[in-house]
Amino acid sequence: MYNLTDRNIILGVSGSIAAYKAADLASKLTQAGARLDVVLTPVAERFVTPLTFQSVTGRRAYVDMFDTASGASEQHVEMARRAHALLVAPATATTIARIALGLAEDMLSLTALATRAPIVICPAMDPHMYEHEATQGHLETLLSRGVHVVGPEVGRLASGHTGPGRMSDVDTIIGGLRYVLGRDGDLAAKKVVVSAGGTQEPIDPVRYVGNYSSGKMGYALAEAARDRGADVALVSGAVALPVPYAVRAVFVRSAAEMRDAVVVECADADALIMAAAVADYQPAEAIGQKMKRRRESFSLPLVRTPDILAEVGHRQGLVRVGFAAESEDLLANARHKLEEKGLEFIVANDVTADGCGFGSDTNKVTLIDRQGEEELTLMPKHDVAARVLDRVVTLVQAQGARK
Ligand code: PMT
Repeated sequence: MYNLTDRNIILGVSGSIAAYKAADLASKLTQAGARLDVVLTPVAERFVTPLTFQSVTGRRAYVDMFDTASGASEQHVEMARRAHALLVAPATATTIARIALGLAEDMLSLTALATRAPIVICPAMDPHMYEHEATQGHLETLLSRGVHVVGPEVGRLASGHTGPGRMSDVDTIIGGLRYVLGRDGDLAAKKVVVSAGGTQEPIDPVRYVGNYSSGKMGYALAEAARDRGADVALVSGAVALPVPYAVRAVFVRSAAEMRDAVVVECADADALIMAAAVADYQPAEAIGQKMKRRRESFSLPLVRTPDILAEVGHRQGLVRVGFAAESEDLLANARHKLEEKGLEFIVANDVTADGCGFGSDTNKVTLIDRQGEEELTLMPKHDVAARVLDRVVTLVQAQGARK
């Protein structure tokens, strides 16, 4: 996960039953390369132990600010100073109140007062407590100070009540943290449009012409652009992936619908990355009723779909990046598409190779522009996305300099 690597993150855990989920959160953040310091409130310690966090982070976890043996009393100042973000998950009504009022009563609220790093709060409490004017007032105070609040979700809680108060799931919280860490990134104030997934061209009301795209490559690109501060519009075919945090998704089915959405989104965009597998042909006419299985065989006349990249066309200030999914003559075919569509660069992937292309979590691509080719090794799609975004940033900045 790109923008968490080597970041100093303080994870504050307060006393809610959701504290057990914080162990998974700590583990995932550590695996993503973050240096995690965990601070528990004394009440949190009744739900989970510091040892749990020490085991998953490999670092000391803190509770008692008067623990002279561990040097905790000085630690909070040093930790707060070097932190890139303070993430409070779960954040109880009491902890939210303490942070809003500046009451440094335990090591967590003390750290919140001492740090100048961005703060992300993930509320978790009973719906009545969450909806109480006191809690809502404290959250408003925090929002007005630039604190970012992730969740809570509506659902059934440990108390047996149903309503708002359930802590967001771990992946959403990590998305929120990545968004906050990237806010001032090198794509801040820039808009990036990403297309993802495959299109579905209707044959009749229940069937379509489609392809195997899972959307993983496009969704990874959307996250990578978000992590660098971009305002991201994700034009997506029907896929089974959650919409990344702070990314605006526009769902489409056919190539024509994707064209319409991409053209609208590109009107004020700085970059377009077309990772979607767009059908090249669609049935000449969609049949109004479900076809019956009566004929031994039949032919389906197909006509060309709109070429989306061509229709968006060349516009001063818009960087256009294509993908080439090839099963033969990878580089020659990709180079042809680069020229034909007049793109800034194209990402060529051999979709027949192991661990590449459709559905996999990894990809092996060659980045091609008019200067030459850069062949990348097999790597996770998130890392491919980061490499593609490196080039997009350079091109967007160059466009900005020319304006
Ligand atoms: O979604 P995943 O399972 O993660 O798989 C990822 C992927 C294999 C789909 C992705 O890496 C990829 O290669 N996407 C492009 C697939 C494709 O349609 O390639 P193409 O060579 O047919 O098209 C070339 C470019 O033109 C593409 O950027 C495509 O989005 C665009 N195009 C294609 C047809 C069309 N009518 N309009 C277009 O703009």
